[in-house]
Amino acid sequence: MGKKYYITTPLYYVNSPLTIGGAYTTIVADVLARYQRLRGKEVFFLTGSDEHGQKIKKAAEEEGISPQELADRVVGTFLELWEMLEITNDDFIRTTEPRHEKVVEEVFRRLVKKGDIYWGSYEGWYCTPCETFLLDSQLSEGLCPQCGRPVEKLVEDNYFFRFSRYQKLLEEHFRNNPDFVRPPSRYREMLNRLKEGLNDISVSRAISWGVPVPGKEEQGIWVWFDALLNYISAPNSLTPGGEEEIWPADIHLMAKDIVWFHSLLWPAMLMALDLPLPRTVYAHGWWTMGGEKISKSKGAAYARDVVEEFGPDPLRYFMLREIPLGLDGDFSFEALAVRYRSDLANDLGNLLQRSLSMIKKYRKGRLPASGEDPAGKVILEEIASFWPRYHREMEDLKFSQVLEGIWSFIHRANRYIEESKPWRLYREDRESGRLDGVLFTLVAILLHSASWVQPFMPGTAEKICRQIQPSSPIVPAFSQAEANPSGVVRSGQLIGKIEPLFPILFSEKKE
Ligand code: MSP
Repeated sequence: MGKKYYITTPLYYVNSPLTIGGAYTTIVADVLARYQRLRGKEVFFLTGSDEHGQKIKKAAEEEGISPQELADRVVGTFLELWEMLEITNDDFIRTTEPRHEKVVEEVFRRLVKKGDIYWGSYEGWYCTPCETFLLDSQLSEGLCPQCGRPVEKLVEDNYFFRFSRYQKLLEEHFRNNPDFVRPPSRYREMLNRLKEGLNDISVSRAISWGVPVPGKEEQGIWVWFDALLNYISAPNSLTPGGEEEIWPADIHLMAKDIVWFHSLLWPAMLMALDLPLPRTVYAHGWWTMGGEKISKSKGAAYARDVVEEFGPDPLRYFMLREIPLGLDGDFSFEALAVRYRSDLANDLGNLLQRSLSMIKKYRKGRLPASGEDPAGKVILEEIASFWPRYHREMEDLKFSQVLEGIWSFIHRANRYIEESKPWRLYREDRESGRLDGVLFTLVAILLHSASWVQPFMPGTAEKICRQIQPSSPIVPAFSQAEANPSGVVRSGQLIGKIEPLFPILFSEKKE
C-alpha cells in the first residue's frame, strides 16, 4: 500500500472555544481531504488541541480551575464543532495524551544526546499570548511584533535547541524546493527571515504546565517544541517505517502568523531527527472583522453561533468562495447572508426546484431521455471540458476559483431555462425531443454540480441527488461522471420530493 496523503491543521489552543478563524483552517483541510478521498487516495487528516504552556495555565487560573479541567471542557467544544461542520478528520490529537508526551520526551532525550539541545542562559522577552521568545531587536516599540501585546522580561537558565546548525541545510532545502512554502509571497518572506540568520532558541522554561524535561522535572518543555511534534506523534512516525507509513505530511495548513514555526523551526527539528521534511507548508490569510483579526480574546464570531444560524454547508461555502486561499478577508453576518440568499438559495436552490418542477409537470416526474437540443449538447461538452480544469484547480487549492467556475454553469443553466422556454416547448413542440433535451441537460448540470461541490458542501450534494434520483441517491463519482458526462442521469426514474435546498433563514423570517 502506498503512503497516505497526509493533511494537518494547527493544534488549536484550548483557552476558549473557536472562532470562525480557527474553523476556517479545518474547513479548508476537510475540503482537501474529501477531494483527495474522492479521487481515490487514502488520506490521513489530522487536527487536535494544544493544551500546555503559560497561556493555558493563565486562562485556567483566571477561571479558578486546573489547566487540565479547562482543556477537557474546551476540547469538548472543538469536537462538537467539528461534528457540526461535518469535518472528517481521521485522528484528533491532544498534547496531554500519553502517546504524544512519550514522543516529546523521546525527542528531547535524543536531541540532548546528539548535542542539538544544550543547557544555557536566556535573557530576553516572552510573549505569552503567542508563546514566543523574543530578542530586544525583535520587539516593536517594546511590544510583541506579532500580536502587539506587552511582553515579559525573562532571565533564566534553560535548554536551547541548536537551530543555527541547520541554517545551511535549510537554505539548501528552500533553494531546491520553491514550493516548500506557499503561496510564493510567504516563501519569499520565510527565505528572507532565514537569510537574516538563525539563532539558537530556548526550548524549555521554568514552568509547571508542560511536558517535563526528562531528568530535570522542574523545567517544562516549551509549548511550541512540544506541539509541533504532534505531526509525528499522532501517526506514530518517530521511527521511520513505524506502524503506518504516513509521515511526511503532504501539506501543513495554517494562518500566516505561525508559518515561521512550521517552515523554519519545525524543519530544523526534523533535520535534527533525521526525518524527511513536509512537502508543503501552506499559509492562508486572516479573517478579520471590521478590519481587525478575529481572535478569541476579542470574543467575536464564534464558529458555533454561525453554524447554528446558517448551517454547516453555507459557512463552508462562504469561507472558501469569498476569498482566494492565502489572502485576508473580512467576515460579516451580512456578507454571509448575501451569499446564502444569492448564490445558494437563488442560483442553486432555485435551479433545482425549477428543473424538478418542470419534470414533474411536463414528464410526470420521470427523468427524461437525452433528447435533442443543440444548445444542451454544447453545455454537455463544456461540462466534459470543465472536469480537467476542476481537478487542476482543486489540486492547486484554488478553491474560490473552482467555485466560481461551478457557479458559471449554474448561472448558465438558469439562463438556459429562460432562453429555451420549456413551457413553450411543452405547448408547441412536445414530441420533437427538444423538451427532453433541455430537461436532461438541466439535470446533468445539477448532478455534475453536486459532484463538484461535494467536497465543499457534502450535505447539499447529497440532498440534490436525493431529490433528483431517490432510488439511486448517490452523488456521481468523479471517475464515472468524468468518463461519461451524460451517463449520470438515470433516465426513466421517478424524481423525489421537491424541497427547498436552502430555506429562508430564521433571521429573515423574523423581519
Ligand atoms: N497552538 C498554536 C498552533 C500550534 S501548531 C503545532 C496556535 N493555536 S491558535 O489557537 O492560536 O490557532 C492558530 C490557528 O487558527 C491559525 O494558524 C489559523 O490556522 C487559525 N486561525 C485563528 N484565527 C484566525 C483568523 N482570524 N483567521 C484565519 N485563521 C485563523 O497558534
